[in-house]
Amino acid sequence: MNIVILENYRQMSKYAAEIIAGYVKSKPDFVLGLATGSTPIGTYQELVRMHREEGLDFSRVRTFNLDEYLGVGIDMEKTYDMDQSYARFMHEELFKHINIKRENIHIPDAQTKEPKKFCMWYEEEIKKAGGIDLQLLGLGGDGHWGFNEPGSSLGSRTRIVALTKQTLDDNYKSFYKKANIERDQMPHFAISMGVGTILDAKNVLMIVNGYKKADIVAKCLEGPITSQVTASAIQLHSGGISVVLDAAAASKLMHSDHYKHVAKMRFQYGI
Ligand code: GLP
Repeated sequence: MNIVILENYRQMSKYAAEIIAGYVKSKPDFVLGLATGSTPIGTYQELVRMHREEGLDFSRVRTFNLDEYLGVGIDMEKTYDMDQSYARFMHEELFKHINIKRENIHIPDAQTKEPKKFCMWYEEEIKKAGGIDLQLLGLGGDGHWGFNEPGSSLGSRTRIVALTKQTLDDNYKSFYKKANIERDQMPHFAISMGVGTILDAKNVLMIVNGYKKADIVAKCLEGPITSQVTASAIQLHSGGISVVLDAAAASKLMHSDHYKHVAKMRFQYGI
């Protein structure tokens, strides 16, 4: 694992955006897995800046989002006043600011009438695209990736999942902030790529910031691999792994000095 510890959120976001941009430049029809939540917003802003100021080209990039709440709106052409969908989030934070093609964007369909069929179709689409080249990931407060809550099989695939109380509590703020939605009205189910789906990505890039995630970061990177902390499956990934943390999120890691030393050596020797 390539664990990079930077001073703050701004540096973490810039570093992550540079990794993504590097891939996009080297493979224009790159398949990018995307994440939501507050963590990647700075990364998306930096990618938008690179697109505007440096001409970073997304015209052939294909994307697959990790997850979506069930039952929320998804039509990107509509207005979104009360719509807290991740489709809307992606549109607002990234897609509408860059030259990505609508047909190259994949987000789980929150309004599907046939969820099982849809989930199988989503997996097939990822395969047809040649697999995900790089999956961007945040980290949920209970250690989840996407919406793979504690107890999700580490071999799980795209499916319907039930959200834990902690996730509902954590995510309620972002729901409430944008629309006057009561806690009980939040969707309690979602469609999420499985842990197995994520592990199939050729490379993964996990970004985490803030002191309140420090304990779960330590469990995920240095604790046992367990379905109780689904992101601990990162230790099983066989491709390129980058973990980019701010100093607060890294503050409870046992071996942070070693990770810093390795990162310095990598930089010095260009490896
Ligand atoms: C949600 C998303 C996850 C994300 C998590 C963390 O649960 N499904 O993909 O990693 O939120 O959100 P935040 O970055 O706001 O802490």
